[in-house]
Amino acid sequence: MYTLFKKLLFQLDPEVSHTCAMRALQLAYQCGLSRCISSVKQPQTVMGLTFANRIGLAAGLDKNADYVDALAALGFGFIEIGTVTPRPQIGNPKPRLFRLAREEAIINRMGFNNKGVDYVKERLQKTHYRGVLGVNIGKNKETPNERAIDDYLIGFRELWPYASYITINISSPNTPGLRDLQQNHFLSDLLGAMKKEQELIAKNHQKYVPLAVKIAPDLSAEALDELSQIILQQKIDAVIATNTTISRKGVEQSPHAQEAGGLSGAPLDARNTEVIRQLYAVLQNKIPIIAVGGVMNEKSAHDKLQAGASLLQIYTGFIYHGPGLIKRLASIK
Ligand SMILES: Cc1cc2nc3c(=O)[nH]c(=O)nc-3n(C[C@H](O)[C@H](O)[C@H](O)COP(=O)(O)O)c2cc1C
Repeated sequence: MYTLFKKLLFQLDPEVSHTCAMRALQLAYQCGLSRCISSVKQPQTVMGLTFANRIGLAAGLDKNADYVDALAALGFGFIEIGTVTPRPQIGNPKPRLFRLAREEAIINRMGFNNKGVDYVKERLQKTHYRGVLGVNIGKNKETPNERAIDDYLIGFRELWPYASYITINISSPNTPGLRDLQQNHFLSDLLGAMKKEQELIAKNHQKYVPLAVKIAPDLSAEALDELSQIILQQKIDAVIATNTTISRKGVEQSPHAQEAGGLSGAPLDARNTEVIRQLYAVLQNKIPIIAVGGVMNEKSAHDKLQAGASLLQIYTGFIYHGPGLIKRLASIK
């Protein structure tokens, strides 16, 4: 059934198709059709949280938490919404989303288009889903890196009551300078401030909200090593690896290869697994790794689990293979 649906959707402009698909999903949920979907129960405890199964929805598909219940009904073990910035922003001019169908890939330069923390807060208050919910936070485009901490603290303070965990996104290639926050001097200060806030919330509200950091796949081995050391020192609760890549390896022949933005999907798979392996060499079992990037089938999922990932997230694989992929991947032993 998804094959037919996809054929129709892929006739449309990618962003229009996204909106149509999400509305159709919402309608199906409201009509009770999603109740026919059986989900895989394979509970996993990571960051002190119990995930219904290992397969999560990656950030960026439901930036404003508009479709959490409908998405959760598809059988995801967890859902990550966002990226949310303190103030709403419209993102980059369109077109900003490109399908590379032959390569099973996407290039996007959305630029954190989102409705801001106040809107998302309202949406989350109305959500019925009680499974693990990640809230991915970022900084507004016009906020300079020197003041980035303020934006992340706003996101954390406003949204922690609704979050099972918070993801600090410092790895989108579409907000100028954002990836510089992965450099040692910025990162130590940012993570230090977030940990302090986490302690305060735990003390004042008796809720420990785990913090995950989402990183880019384009770091050198040396930079990745340094970053892993900082994450260990700061006792961050998990690493989400990775965001999209600025590399065009594997898509050189595509007519969209030269579009600016981050590449996701099958061409990111091998590099992503390499990053997971390198991270695991330092982090071992001290800090869990959530792998995201090119999880398109059982093999890519299996490779990432073997490389050291505890949980997986999907975005592009979900677009190309539909909800059936969730169950297939969640059933991997
Ligand atoms: C259209 C699009 C929008 C995205 N938006 C976000 C975002 O807002 N925040 C974020 O952390 N990651 C975002 N991502 C990155 C995904 O969460 C994921 O890390 C990346 O696509 C690699 O996984 P995949 O190969 O399964 O797609 C986006 C990806 C795509 C394709």
